Amino acid sequence: MQLGFHSVTAEHTDVAVDVEGQIPSWLEGTLIRNGPGRFDTAGGTVNHWFDGLAMLRAYRFADGTLRYTNRLLRTEASAAADRGQLTGQFATDGGTLSRLLRPLQLLRGAAGTDNTNVHVAAIDGTLIALTETDTRIAVDPTTLQVRGHFRFDDAIREDLTTAHLAVDDTTGESFGLATTFAPRPRYQILRVGADGRRRTTLATIDARGPAYIHDLAVSASAVILIETPLQLSARAALSPLSDGPIDMLRWRPDAGARIHRIDRSTGSHTTHAIAPTFCFHIMAAADTTEGHVVDAVTFEDGQIVEALRLDRLRTAGFPEGPTGQLTRYHITDDGVRTTRLSDAGVAFPRVAPGDPAVGYAQATDPSDATGVCRIDRTDGATTSWHRSGRYCEEPVPVGGPDGTTVVLVPTLDVDAGCTRLRICDGDTLEAHAVATLPVAEPFGFHGRWFPTGTFGPARSSHA
Ligand SMILES: [Fe+2]
Repeated sequence: MQLGFHSVTAEHTDVAVDVEGQIPSWLEGTLIRNGPGRFDTAGGTVNHWFDGLAMLRAYRFADGTLRYTNRLLRTEASAAADRGQLTGQFATDGGTLSRLLRPLQLLRGAAGTDNTNVHVAAIDGTLIALTETDTRIAVDPTTLQVRGHFRFDDAIREDLTTAHLAVDDTTGESFGLATTFAPRPRYQILRVGADGRRRTTLATIDARGPAYIHDLAVSASAVILIETPLQLSARAALSPLSDGPIDMLRWRPDAGARIHRIDRSTGSHTTHAIAPTFCFHIMAAADTTEGHVVDAVTFEDGQIVEALRLDRLRTAGFPEGPTGQLTRYHITDDGVRTTRLSDAGVAFPRVAPGDPAVGYAQATDPSDATGVCRIDRTDGATTSWHRSGRYCEEPVPVGGPDGTTVVLVPTLDVDAGCTRLRICDGDTLEAHAVATLPVAEPFGFHGRWFPTGTFGPARSSHA
């Protein structure tokens, strides 16, 4: 497990990767993933998995071959860490005031951290790296080098934001969430079109807490938010002992949890009470004849956030942490009915593009591994793949011709000391091909598949 939380020093640019097996010939494009690449710096070791300094990874498929790039992002946060200043992170702030929240930023005149290590997106033809602040980094899609700050063409205030954007593949619209703390806590649901970088506010909702909301979902007609009782206390952030937003989190089950359903065409919303739960990630939302369904990976409480502190992960590993399970919320005008979609322990849920009846997730039940699983969303039937000592990360499904799906799964082999990219069949999870990467990758977070041409004409960085 230590290997999954080590600090990378070597970078590679567009290198050919040895592949065993056959990459499907139709697979043309690039998986770009984000996550920590360095945990140990001149400023010390970060406190939490979420605080590792960003490393982007690109897996570029063309003509049945695979090329690989990894880049440690040169940001102000990484430069400061190299100078011995490790501050402004989720749980690593060196005992100073949190810089993540704008009210406190204003006191310090500082911006939110630019350690954009959580996710990536394509906005206005630009590849951007994202975290939960309003600082976004534009990245060269070929070399993965930092181009500079990315700014939306609007004046929308974001004290805290989601690194996750919910994308409607049909319209190309992206939806995000900004939380503001003053004059009273509110959530703004933001929308940006396929082309352009000017966002509009679809709806503004009074917040309870506010809650720490990490993800949102979009169906054909609605945007769905799950507001859990894991709340952010601005007062706690003012403590001189605060190590960052993690110390602002308070589990307040008496507040209950709520689902907010926002109509995409009118911006009107309905709010529905549900039992207290915590969730980071939503697999998908969909319209039904009675209303909507949303499938989320839920936890009994908010302890998972503490379980992901780095010292615990480096010693105990993932299996010691709380288990997330797929919960289905059936939302109608009469209320919400809650069912369990699958009993499997899961994290990092994704839905198959072009086949929303199928979902994929990291499987967290094995005690000496993390696997990958396929979940039939019509009946919950679950198929999984795992091997002792292999740690599968977020599976990214890619749709092919005739309804085929392949699933791309970076898998750390702790015994062999390497990461392999498994290119799996979407039905059986058996590998069509396995590529051994030149870097043992620390455990990352999220990625997206970008078909060739997403960022304009392909440019080669190798002579
Ligand atoms: Fe996430």
